[in-house]
Formats: sequence, C-alpha cells, structure tokens
Amino acid sequence: MASKEPEPAPPQAAQADVLVDPLEHVAEGEPIIRVRGLVNRFGKQVVHDGLDLEVQRGEIIGVVGGSGTGKSVLMRSILGLRTPDAGEIEVLGIDARTTDADQRRQIERNTGVLFQDGALFSSLTVGENVQVPLKEYHRDISDSLRYELALLKIKLAGLPADALNKLPSQLSGGMRKRAGLARALALDPPLLFLDEPTAGLDPIGAAAFDVLIRTLQQALGLTVFLITHDLDTLYAICDRIAVLADKKVLICAPMAQVETFEHAWVQEYFHGPRARAARDARDAQPLRDASQHTQDN
Ligand SMILES: Nc1ncnc2c1ncn2[C@@H]1O[C@H](COP(=O)(O)OP(=O)(O)O)[C@@H](O)[C@H]1O
Ligand SMILES: [Mg+2]
Repeated sequence: MASKEPEPAPPQAAQADVLVDPLEHVAEGEPIIRVRGLVNRFGKQVVHDGLDLEVQRGEIIGVVGGSGTGKSVLMRSILGLRTPDAGEIEVLGIDARTTDADQRRQIERNTGVLFQDGALFSSLTVGENVQVPLKEYHRDISDSLRYELALLKIKLAGLPADALNKLPSQLSGGMRKRAGLARALALDPPLLFLDEPTAGLDPIGAAAFDVLIRTLQQALGLTVFLITHDLDTLYAICDRIAVLADKKVLICAPMAQVETFEHAWVQEYFHGPRARAARDARDAQPLRDASQHTQDN
C-alpha cells in the first residue's frame, strides 16, 4: 500500500514490526473490520448514509452492488485512504482514521491490497514490484533474501519463476492480477482487500483466480474483503455476501439468505439468467474446498 509518511521510520522500528501480533488488538470473536454509521459525500452526492458492516476473522466476504454504489469508496475508507464525513471504522482493532504513525503503520503493514486497476509500477519488473513493500518494511534484510521472498510470493500467486524479471506490460491480464496479488501478499498480511480482481479476465482465467484466492485464504488463514460483480466468484468462494444499495449495506449474509432478500436490485441481480448459470456451475463443481490448483492464462 502506498505510504505518505513524511519521514522514514528508523530500521529498529521496522524490525520491531515483525514481532507484533497483527491481531493483538482484535479480541477473540470480535470482527476484524467494523464499520458503523459510515457517511461519505462528494459535494452534494451522498454515497454512503449510515452504512454498517462487520467482517469476521477468517471469512471471505463478497461485496457487491451496482456500479457507483460506493464499493471502492468503502474499501478506501476502511483502509484509511479516505476520511469519511461521519461514522466509525475499526480495522484490526485500530481506528482507521488514526493519525498515530505507529497505528497507521500497523494497518498498512497488515493489509494487502489489490486495487481495481492493478496499480503495478509499469517501469519496474514484477519482482521489483513485489519487493517494494519488502523494502519499505524490512529495511534490514539482505538483497538476496528479499529476492527469495519475492520469488516465493510470485510462486504462491501461481506465476512461473521467470515472471519475476518481466515488466507488467509483458504479462497477460490474468498474470498481471497474479503479480498484483503477489505484491499484496508480500508482507504476509492477515487481511486482504481485492477490488474487482477478476474484472477483465476471461471466464477460465477468472475461475482459476477464484480457486487461487480460496486456496490461499485457507492455507494462510486470511480474511478477504472481496469487491466483485462476478456472480461466479460470489457463488464459488464467498462465505457471506454484503449487498450495497440505497447508500447502505442492505444485507450481509450467506448466499442462500441473500437470494431470498426482498429488494428489487437483489432480485434482479441474483435471479437473472447469469445468476442461474453461476449457481449451476457451483453445484457442478464446488470450489469452496479448493483442493485443486489451476494455472490460468
Ligand atoms: N474522488 C472522488 N471524487 C468525487 N466523486 C467520487 C470520488 N470517488 C468516488 N466518487 C463517486 O462516488 C461514487 C461511488 O464510487 P465508487 O466507490 O468508485 O463506486 P463502485 O461501487 O463502482 O466502486 C461514484 O458515483 C463516484 O463517482
Ligand atoms: Mg469500484
């Protein structure tokens, strides 16, 4: 995640970070993200008006809603990249609006983010991109160890080792998403944010990415905040779905409950032909216990 700190922390502070339990402020059974009464406005446009949401530790929460309903703004607010007009947000037990440098660092250090546009540095190789957060937070590790760590993350994201030395422009769309994921996972964050990760991928590439997310979430014990309007993704890998409409989270529940929710947008979205196809696909080949691992384009 981009940092706008005025001056770099000394190496000792960076090293101490490693020893801090990222979940130390989150009590057992407490949500890992808590949003209450969130209000976001741009001029006269009200995007969120009293939005509430809780994300439990270890779940994949699918955040869905029409275009412009404020999914990305919600994510930016949770990450503390945007200061809301009102409301309370806690992430990892820390106030997202904190101006305390150590607490900000705790949030940044423990959240991996794949932004909607991928946001890789185009002039850096994939390996260098993955090393950016490592350089920032592990200043004292050797170049060779940092290289090895970057390689590990690249393989974890399902990329071949030779992707390390390629520029983002030399990769396919699916591989670029995986490179962004490798960078998001660079610091082993317990909390991962993905904004429309399968948008623009073909259905096979998108399905492979879904399997990857589920596999990593299970293997690494991640909590995943996943913005998507890919119905296949929602059906295949999400534990609960949060529906954004009317400036709020209308419902946040497992799919079976969301499908029966009485609301025009929900009914249209979850009962159209594309939803039927996604349901059939899930029933034919459930991914929830991702036991396979596929390479994509
Ligand atoms: N920086 C900004 N300035 C003005 N308006 C914005 C800004 N960011 C988002 N918006 C508006 O807020 C609404 C929600 O945006 P966004 O969260 O990006 O929607 P989406 O649900 O598609 O991700 C949109 O109408 C968008 O135009
Ligand atoms: Mg968006």
